Amino acid sequence: MGENPTDLQSGRSNSSPLKQLATVIALRCVECASLYPGVSEHPRYRCDCGGVLDVEAKIHHPLQQGSTLQAGFETLATSKSEVKPFAGAHWRQLFEERASQSPTWPVNVVTQLPDSSGVWRYRELILPIPEQYIVSRPEGNTCLYPVGRENCGNHRAGHRQIGHYAGLDYLFLKHEGENPTGSFKDRGMTVGVTMANLLGARAVACASTGNTSASLASYAAQLGLPGIVFLPSTHVAAGKLAQSLAYGATTIQIEGDFDDAMRLVEQVCNELGIYLLNSLNPFRIEGQKAIGFELLQQLAWEAPDWLVLPAGNLGNTSAIGKAFRQAHRLGLIAHVPRIAAVQASGANPFFRSFMNGFVSREHVQAQTIATAIKIGDPVSYSRARQVIEESNGVVEEVSDEEILAAKAVIDRSGIGCEPASAATLAGARKLVERGIIKREERVVGILTGNLLKDSQTGIPQPKQGDAITASSEAVRRALANKISF
Ligand code: F0G
Repeated sequence: MGENPTDLQSGRSNSSPLKQLATVIALRCVECASLYPGVSEHPRYRCDCGGVLDVEAKIHHPLQQGSTLQAGFETLATSKSEVKPFAGAHWRQLFEERASQSPTWPVNVVTQLPDSSGVWRYRELILPIPEQYIVSRPEGNTCLYPVGRENCGNHRAGHRQIGHYAGLDYLFLKHEGENPTGSFKDRGMTVGVTMANLLGARAVACASTGNTSASLASYAAQLGLPGIVFLPSTHVAAGKLAQSLAYGATTIQIEGDFDDAMRLVEQVCNELGIYLLNSLNPFRIEGQKAIGFELLQQLAWEAPDWLVLPAGNLGNTSAIGKAFRQAHRLGLIAHVPRIAAVQASGANPFFRSFMNGFVSREHVQAQTIATAIKIGDPVSYSRARQVIEESNGVVEEVSDEEILAAKAVIDRSGIGCEPASAATLAGARKLVERGIIKREERVVGILTGNLLKDSQTGIPQPKQGDAITASSEAVRRALANKISF
């Protein structure tokens, strides 16, 4: 174990998987393009200039010679070079084979099942490490619901209401709330905690309004590592807090909001040598890219025209944008979808920056009922700005009323989601009304979290005294005016 309090590792820095990893990944500053080693004794989350870092990797197909994404590290700039049709056929074949394996656990064999994870199935594009280090539940494999007016199919009148509400013929919703702990965070966390495992970290920590903390607590517990979560003193969803506590994480409530908790956890992690697992950690972003890869595979690699998602700290916007860029450069898809990031109007710093042509980076004191995106100073601003610019994307804002109205439509369809996710549908509807998304375009929207988060928000609550006597007559009275028989 290192002498220095900020030395995270317990002596694994010279171990061969880390050495091997160091030869294929590096960290690049999104602001000034400085390059740092991908693996180092003191984990680095920022450049000396203060900018956030992005993972660059040499990507190898397991059955092909040489590196696929050019020789050397991938660069941040969009490659304008034309991708040959079917250039990605060997990648498609690899991922199809892996997705078709049935996940079975051979008796008495200690084995990993990376192919059955919706993240590690794409491991060459996520984090090239030996399989025995992977910490996975597994995660991913979330549904892509066809809910547009035309693509909805039979016996789905409820789901079709979503397409009607958005005004879209071909709409899909990918429900990341179907991940093991109830949000997309599991996709980044499996990679972040796997890195903690490789590095021999002593403890992991994050700031969170609920979902990140539950995810961190679960994956840390799986590895047997102490997890610490920093929570704002208000607006943390009770169920998510219960999850973190049940999984055994140490919770620290701090006076202030998410932005305050985020600043503090970064400082504490650097001072105490705790491994930081917010999306400031670039390996979290690498895991969240799998949302993009998985939805493309579900669409048989026919990229949609648009991808719409809620935007808070902007990790997901950055990750999915990066996945699309890489999929395009590998020849997996023929074009890069346009990305629409949707913010709550009371927590809209990214929208404000977009409206001023990204001339200045805006901050706000965030206020919205959608607690998951109640963020006024998003960490991944620069990464996400690049994604919006290079995908010819847009940033939209929606009011809390619009979020609640959209949530009611998603809930009543039988799919359901937490409030931040509903910003996706509210934003899509607005962009259709404004003529930016065309009615006949193919759109994928991301639902980021499970209905059971913030379940007091926008859902009618049972009233005290609602119970009736247990008699058929009382049931008839209760149903009168609701259903006719
Ligand atoms: N949707 C949900 C359900 C979330 O939990 C979050 C972030 C976001 C969207 C925003 O995603 O940051 O990638 O733009 N939740 C954090 C948390 C704040 O603590 O769980 P982003």
